[in-house]
Amino acid sequence: MRQTDVILLWILFTYLLVPYADVEGKSVPPNQWNVLLHTKPGQYLKIDCEDLIEYDINLFPNVSLGDVTDFRIRYCPLPGDSFKPTMDLFNISRFEDMTLDGVNINNSTGKKVTKQLFDGLSELKTLYFSSLVPINLESDFLENLPNLRQLQLQNTIDKIYPNMFNYTPKLEILHLSQNLISELPNRVFQNLPDLRMLHLWNNQLTSLENETFAGLGQLTSLELSNNQIVHLDDDTFSDLVHLVNISLRRNKLKKYWCLYF
Ligand SMILES: *[C@@H]1O[C@H](CO)[C@@H](O)[C@H](O)[C@H]1NC(C)=O
Ligand SMILES: *[C@@H]1O[C@H](CO)[C@@H](O)[C@H](O)[C@H]1NC(C)=O
Ligand SMILES: *[C@@H]1O[C@H](CO)[C@@H](O)[C@H](O)[C@H]1NC(C)=O
Ligand SMILES: *[C@@H]1O[C@H](CO)[C@@H](O)[C@H](O)[C@H]1NC(C)=O
Ligand SMILES: *[C@@H]1O[C@H](CO)[C@@H](O)[C@H](O)[C@H]1NC(C)=O
Ligand SMILES: *[C@@H]1O[C@H](CO)[C@@H](O)[C@H](O)[C@H]1NC(C)=O
Repeated sequence: MRQTDVILLWILFTYLLVPYADVEGKSVPPNQWNVLLHTKPGQYLKIDCEDLIEYDINLFPNVSLGDVTDFRIRYCPLPGDSFKPTMDLFNISRFEDMTLDGVNINNSTGKKVTKQLFDGLSELKTLYFSSLVPINLESDFLENLPNLRQLQLQNTIDKIYPNMFNYTPKLEILHLSQNLISELPNRVFQNLPDLRMLHLWNNQLTSLENETFAGLGQLTSLELSNNQIVHLDDDTFSDLVHLVNISLRRNKLKKYWCLYF
């Protein structure tokens, strides 16, 4: 850490939400949580959570940070509405890179991620989103992110909707590896004319068809290793005129396929 760095560090020590209760002479561990905030005003805000059940901005200090470029949360739940109240609290009007790492969503509550979560973030360029279990993403959850260039969803989705990527026409890099995707709807990427890199390794894909990759005229890199692919249409890759690298390792293809590019 450089001395010139202005590092503000708050440690909100173990807040006790319920008092200790004595049960047969033993202390029952309290329902407790920790939140750790790191920030370098003008550059980043990082929030680490531990055992936090509800995202509650009242847990954060009220300090004006001004704009930052990078906003990260780790092992935190998601706000019920959007990140706007958090941004207002810290007086942040915009940032370009967002990391939601190991999002701790309790699936059993049936909570969904809707487009509202990203209200006011239309300038976002990079989103990395991973969660502890696959979560329920609404089909239009990307609608408020029209300027996204890079998107990575990891351990987060088990289903791709046909219109999911219609809202992010500027995407150049799309990482969907390490999810539970078993099917890609026909033409699902057709509104991504600038996409250069598409990673789908470690999913459960079984079949790729002639229209799966329709419209990906700028794609140079396609990673499909570690799936269960048994079938490819002969012209599956025919739209991919700029493809340089493709990997189909560790699939279940039984014969050599004659591929047309
Ligand atoms: C934060 O502090 C500012 C003044 O420093 C005040 O105007 C604002 O209402 C406070 N916000 C919250 C959520 O307490
Ligand atoms: C919020 O940031 C703006 C500049 O981005 C600044 O003019 C304003 O004083 C800040 N507000 C507070 C409460 O610090
Ligand atoms: C999930 O939420 C339910 C209902 O609120 C609760 O009973 C359960 O303990 C929670 N599970 C986890 C892992 O937080
Ligand atoms: C969480 O919920 C989603 C949507 O209901 C479901 O697809 C997914 O399988 C669930 N994940 C777990 C680990 O229960
Ligand atoms: C894909 O194949 C189906 C039938 O197998 C055919 O009807 C359709 O025209 C083909 N699409 C393209 C773009 O070649
Ligand atoms: C293709 O793969 C090679 C070797 O991994 C790498 O050096 C090169 O940058 C890749 N090219 C593209 C366009 O992804």
